Amino acid sequence: MNREFEKIVREAGEIIKRGFSEEKDIDFKSRVDLVTKFDLEVELFLKSRVQKLYPDFEIVGEETSSESFGTASKKIYIDPIDGTTNFVHSLPFVAISIGIWEDGEPLEGVVYNPILDELFYAKRNSGAFLNGKKISVSSRDSLQDGLISTGFPYTKVEKGDDYEWTVKVFSEILPKCRDVRRYGSASLDLAYLSKGTFDGYYELNLQPWDVSAGILLVEEAGGEIRNHSGEKYKIEVDRVIVATNGKVGELNSIVSSVELR
Ligand code: IPD
Ligand code: CA
Ligand code: CA
Repeated sequence: MNREFEKIVREAGEIIKRGFSEEKDIDFKSRVDLVTKFDLEVELFLKSRVQKLYPDFEIVGEETSSESFGTASKKIYIDPIDGTTNFVHSLPFVAISIGIWEDGEPLEGVVYNPILDELFYAKRNSGAFLNGKKISVSSRDSLQDGLISTGFPYTKVEKGDDYEWTVKVFSEILPKCRDVRRYGSASLDLAYLSKGTFDGYYELNLQPWDVSAGILLVEEAGGEIRNHSGEKYKIEVDRVIVATNGKVGELNSIVSSVELR
């Protein structure tokens, strides 16, 4: 990983560490979608510093970009704090997620949890690493022996189609695997899949900045990223992400079997 890039990410991590243990004022994007002044501070810091390092890329940040994600072919997706609910409650599963993409394909990805000092990094065709050590997905090949991670969409509060889908898929998967975890940070879910802790992961309604770095981590660690139909996942397009070690295909079948409305 480029030294300057790593320095920037670690400096941004210091902002998260500063806010982690204190009582935080919360703003609400929706009833359960929280944001703090630290989310914005980290994003503004990263935006200006990363832009200088990659001047010909468009920065798409969760807190400062519009929903349309822009039209550039070269983009850097930034989630300044992935796991804001954890951050608000001082639960140490929070991460900075930065994914560098060109023409719909990932080039580099970094997921950094400053609280546990875990820095995941992947570069296309060069492997995935945790704190400089090469990592790979697990070799477990049965869903029944697998630990599966997931997340619940913020739209759950409306008890509409997204909620129905989430509950149905969950009820199908829960008896068929070792157990399910809800970690609260999509980028870390993918990072932990890439290092073999989780064997599969799925979620509905994620945004590009949630997954832009984790996708490359999983792929470079030997795993697979698919959509609801079992095809290759398309960033900015697909609503469902299913990530696996490439060996628990039953997870893909179960997710696909529940109709998406
Ligand atoms: C959220 C986390 C969570 C996932 C949500 C995301 P945020 O990101 O990744 O695990 O379930 O869908 O929005 O809001 O903490 O940046
Ligand atoms: Ca996020
Ligand atoms: Ca966030």
